[in-house]
Amino acid sequence: MKTAKLVLEGKEHELPVVVGSEGEVGIDIAKLRQATGAITLDDGYGNTGSCKSAITFIDGEKGILRYRGYDIDDLVRGGCRFSEVAYLLLYGELPNQRETEAWRYQLTHHSLLHEDMKKFFEGFPSSAHPMAILSAMVASLSTYYLEGENQEEVNIIRLLAKAKTIAAFSYKKSIGQPFVYPLNHLSYPANFLRMMFAVPTEPYEVNPIFEKALNQLLILHADHEQNCSASTVRMVGSSGANLFASIAAGVGALWGPLHGGANQAVIEMLEQIQADGGNTKKFVDMAKKKDSGFRLMGFGHRVYKNHDPRCRILKETVGKVLEQLGAKDPLLDIAKDLEQAALSDPYFIERKLYPNVDFYSGLIYRAMGIPTSMFTVMFALGRLPGWIAQWKEERTTAGARIHRPRQIYTGRTQRKFVPLAERP
Ligand code: CMC
Repeated sequence: MKTAKLVLEGKEHELPVVVGSEGEVGIDIAKLRQATGAITLDDGYGNTGSCKSAITFIDGEKGILRYRGYDIDDLVRGGCRFSEVAYLLLYGELPNQRETEAWRYQLTHHSLLHEDMKKFFEGFPSSAHPMAILSAMVASLSTYYLEGENQEEVNIIRLLAKAKTIAAFSYKKSIGQPFVYPLNHLSYPANFLRMMFAVPTEPYEVNPIFEKALNQLLILHADHEQNCSASTVRMVGSSGANLFASIAAGVGALWGPLHGGANQAVIEMLEQIQADGGNTKKFVDMAKKKDSGFRLMGFGHRVYKNHDPRCRILKETVGKVLEQLGAKDPLLDIAKDLEQAALSDPYFIERKLYPNVDFYSGLIYRAMGIPTSMFTVMFALGRLPGWIAQWKEERTTAGARIHRPRQIYTGRTQRKFVPLAERP
């Protein structure tokens, strides 16, 4: 067994080394404090492995992303459906024909919401952000579907099936239109698009261009190993909290503009550049100034120090979708210009900052007519199977413990209590 040596205050300690199936090396410090009294400190967890996981592999230097060993490119270009990818993430293998049919049957036949849950939507103001509604509704599923013997699998299916219904209802609520119920014969993306855009007064046909693009988007977002929201889901799940509570917390983590909220922020930024006259260099320069408080949204990544493979595919897709629709989006030209300006700037080159998954995804949602405020919800729908797979792995790993990091305390040392009357 490989080991690493640590010398602390002149004393040598040997630490076991763990090697992953793709050759990733980790120094196991689980017994470090017990042996030395010291802990490790890693603000933002840039160098900390929080678990062993067999779900998703990323090589950020080479720009590789694989789900259960399958390259993301192969899954997308091989014509996989999002529901198959969800199965893959959850159960480790792609489903065969029989399993696919059974799985799709389950996913469609659990997609209705309990009728009483519709009333919850009435309580939210119409200006409510759909991520807030999604988080609240996912948490409230735990009031209808309790944990219990043999309930875990069916609750997983319920959550996957109902999330798209919740998402579409939150949009309908925001524009004051009646809810549209799911239809069992439709695919996951087609069903969602119909619930979003159909109205009872006229027939609605799902545009196959949108169905295909949305399928791709959902697959590309389906998992990304120990990112902020997945780690949140695992952290909450590690306490023994139920599936719905854990996922609701993940939705909250995803909402932030440094994480999934970036897809909304990208479009807002592109609109800002457009309104300002379209000078992308001005915004690249602003992003380089730390005191400007401005960052290029959709740029940079903690793990990718090369092209994000998801972004490469999405850039192609946005071009294709617009071409097939015979449409133009001036924001796409601004985005390409901005990408070019940033990728040729030494600041971005030196720091290895490339466009990430959020840079082009919003332009595809826009082409479909999905409003900007719903973009992060779209991310959440895609990420759901990944979150659930991570939650399940956390709960089923032998010897897994509650996640409880330590800290280095930097506050005041012990001092004498002063009664109120004596305080200056
Ligand atoms: N624009 C300008 N400068 C940047 C950017 C950016 N978008 N991203 C990173 N930098 C700089 C940063 O200021 C720092 O510079 P220096 O070394 O001089 O201090 C350096 O690059 C390293 O950045 P960091 O903040 O230490 O990197 P991080 O790994 O902590 O953060 C990030 C990663 C994604 C939060 C960050 O790149 C960022 O804020 N990007 C914009 C928001 C965004 O697009 N988020 C979506 C991420 S991908 C999908 C997802 O996770 O949801």
